[in-house]
Amino acid sequence: MSSQESTEEAMASGNTMIEMIKVSRTYHPNITALSEISLSIETGEMFFLIGPSGAGKTTLLKLISNMEVPTKGLIEIAGHNINKLKGNKLAYLRQKIGVAYQDFKLLNDRTVAENIAISMEVSYKNPKTIKKQVRDLLDQLQLTDKHNSLTGELSRGEQQRVALARSVANSPRLILVDEPTGNLDASTTKRVMELLNRSKQAGATIVIATHDASIYKQGKHRVMELRNGVIHSLTRGNT
Ligand SMILES: Nc1ncnc2c1ncn2[C@@H]1O[C@H](COP(=O)(O)OP(=O)(O)OP(=O)(O)O)[C@@H](O)[C@H]1O
Ligand SMILES: [Mg+2]
Repeated sequence: MSSQESTEEAMASGNTMIEMIKVSRTYHPNITALSEISLSIETGEMFFLIGPSGAGKTTLLKLISNMEVPTKGLIEIAGHNINKLKGNKLAYLRQKIGVAYQDFKLLNDRTVAENIAISMEVSYKNPKTIKKQVRDLLDQLQLTDKHNSLTGELSRGEQQRVALARSVANSPRLILVDEPTGNLDASTTKRVMELLNRSKQAGATIVIATHDASIYKQGKHRVMELRNGVIHSLTRGNT
C-alpha cells in the first residue's frame, strides 16, 4: 500500500483522527500557552474548543495543523506523527487539512474566487469543478456578488466567510476553524454552521475554536474548555 493510500485509509471513519499525548507549548521567555494536553478526536467528529481569551485555543489548532510545533509531547494525525512527517507525505497530509485562521490569512490583492480556488488548484482539480465549487460555496455563504471583489476590500464578516469557504473547498478530511462566526449575525452564522455540518456529513472531522455559545450549545458535540493552557472541562453540548 502506498503512503497516500494508508493516509487516506487512516482518515476514513472508525479511526482516531487526532491523538495528542501530554502536549505542551511554551513561548519565550516563559509563557505556557498549553500544558500537558492529552486528547483524542475521532474521525468524523465535530469538536468544539472554548475558553477565555488567551486560554490556548488558537495554539492548539496551530499545533494540530503543524503550523506550530509542540515544546513537548506527541501529536498524531491519522496515525502519523505530524512533527516527523517530511516531504511528499507531509505535503499530502496538508492537502487533506483545511484551515480557517482567526486572522483569515487571505491574499488581499486577489479576488474572492481566486482565494477560494487555491487549495483546489494546488491539488490539480479540473477547472470546471473548481468554478462550480467556488460558485456553490459563495451562494451558500451569501457572497454571490463578491465573486470578483478583492478580499482586501471586503468587510471582516465577509472575509471571515471567504476564509471558511477556502478551508472547506477542497473537501478536506480534517477542518480546523478558529472563531468562524465571530463577526457574523445570527442568520449568517446559521449558514456557516450548515456548511460545516455538510462537511461533517461527508465524513470530515471538524475542530472549531469559538466564543460563540450559540454554535456549541446545539447538538451533542463534545465541548472542551481550556483555561490557562490546561483542560478545564470536557462535556457534551446540550447537557
Ligand atoms: N507567538 C506567540 N508568542 C508569544 N506568546 C504567544 C504566541 N502565541 C500565543 N501566545 C500566548 O499564548 C497564550 C495562548 O494564546 P492563544 O492565541 O492560543 O489563545 P486563545 O485561546 O486562542 O485566545 P483568543 O480567544 O483571544 O483567540 C496567550 O497567553 C498568548 O499571549
Ligand atoms: Mg484564538
